[in-house]
Amino acid sequence: MRAVTAGQLDYLNEGNDLLGAGIRNGSSIDIAPLDATFRDSNRAPLHSWFPYLEGYSPRFVQSVMREYLPNARRILEPFAGSGTTPIVLGQLGIESAYSEANPAMAFIVQTKLEILSMNLTERCHLSNRINALNKQIPDRILQARADTILCEDYVSTFGSSIYFDPDIFDIILKLRTVIDEILEEDYILGKCLLLAVLAILIPVSRLKRAGDLRFKTPKELAVGSPCIMQMINERLLTQASDITLAVELRVPSIFACDTAADLHKSVDGLWDGVITSPPYLNGTNYIRNARLELWFHRKIRSKSDLRSLRDSVITSGINDVDARTDWKPVTAGTKRIVAELEQKAYDQRIPKMVGGYFRDMKIAMSALTACLRKKGRLCIDIGDSIYAGVHVPTDDLLIEVAEGIGLRTVERVHLRKRISKGGQVVRQQLLVFEK
Ligand SMILES: C[S@@+](CC[C@H](N)C(=O)[O-])C[C@H]1O[C@@H](n2cnc3c(N)ncnc32)[C@H](O)[C@@H]1O
Repeated sequence: MRAVTAGQLDYLNEGNDLLGAGIRNGSSIDIAPLDATFRDSNRAPLHSWFPYLEGYSPRFVQSVMREYLPNARRILEPFAGSGTTPIVLGQLGIESAYSEANPAMAFIVQTKLEILSMNLTERCHLSNRINALNKQIPDRILQARADTILCEDYVSTFGSSIYFDPDIFDIILKLRTVIDEILEEDYILGKCLLLAVLAILIPVSRLKRAGDLRFKTPKELAVGSPCIMQMINERLLTQASDITLAVELRVPSIFACDTAADLHKSVDGLWDGVITSPPYLNGTNYIRNARLELWFHRKIRSKSDLRSLRDSVITSGINDVDARTDWKPVTAGTKRIVAELEQKAYDQRIPKMVGGYFRDMKIAMSALTACLRKKGRLCIDIGDSIYAGVHVPTDDLLIEVAEGIGLRTVERVHLRKRISKGGQVVRQQLLVFEK
């Protein structure tokens, strides 16, 4: 493998050729462009239970492992998202531990892992109970009372914003009561229903995922909302069928802590590697986008809960920036980009977001380095961005950060072209570092 150093990097990607000096193509390690997206997870048993735009596919994890960590027995995932990495690793018999700052996502990962650790007989029983529950749901909702506390939490968190039609809101409040009853009767069954409802909250709302969450346009609203009962029914049917088909976990995967920066305090320093995809510096507001799921899961009960969760994630969205954001550039390259953005950006939070991102990533990467044994490897999927015409080469700048904390760059792999929010071509790369 050819080692590359920061001095060799193709900062500008001249000629729009995204393969610069020292950059390998993903196809040479059997990664197709769409493996680095959630497309295949949307079809894979269990992975599809909660569609997560920011996720990658099971095949991506397998290919990265085969190429860069072929003998690894223990791998960390600091930004678990929907759990692609810990699930695939556990199925392959590789020990793993993970962190995830969004408690709704952490619940989803934990529930999937719990189901996969059951033997086939237990899973068949659970599948039958899900099918039975599916038939009872309409009656149970009819008999349930709306959860008034959840309704009060909605007002204290979202104020007068109306995210649901009134009849759908009423069903959602009743569903919360039904879920609590089922959690008492049959804990894992209740968790399956909760996961199914989390997965349909946005589709039945007045919001739409288009990068970030936004209100549907009048034209989109005119199409009408999908039927909530039918959506739950379909989700539960999928769960019941997937549960019997999915590959069992051969080794458990452990939730270590919420934030990546704390991983070194939660696990030992003898891990063979890391496979992960941190937030991109593309303005995605991870916590704001998950606000409905976090509210329904009772993880936020007021505006300040939303703010403290936002403070715990890597600064990557404009709304993550506030007066307390520490955005002092951590490397010469980030200083140069932040200074250019201070001149050109239409919103002064943008340079602060960029400075804050690399500062947070430096803290997280230092924590991960402390968890790795000597020669352990850090494999990071990352994309770059453009703000106000300024190219932010996140991959190049992360290499600078990594080399600054003593990691050696083993390889960078071009995965695919992406289109930025402003319509420009940007890239997605895999960066491989060694301790
Ligand atoms: C790009 S997504 C990971 C997707 C994942 N690879 C998958 O396939 O589902 C990044 C994740 O990092 C989480 N996150 C952001 N900041 C974090 C932090 N400081 N510590 C742990 N997780 C964090 C976000 O909530 C998000 O789920």
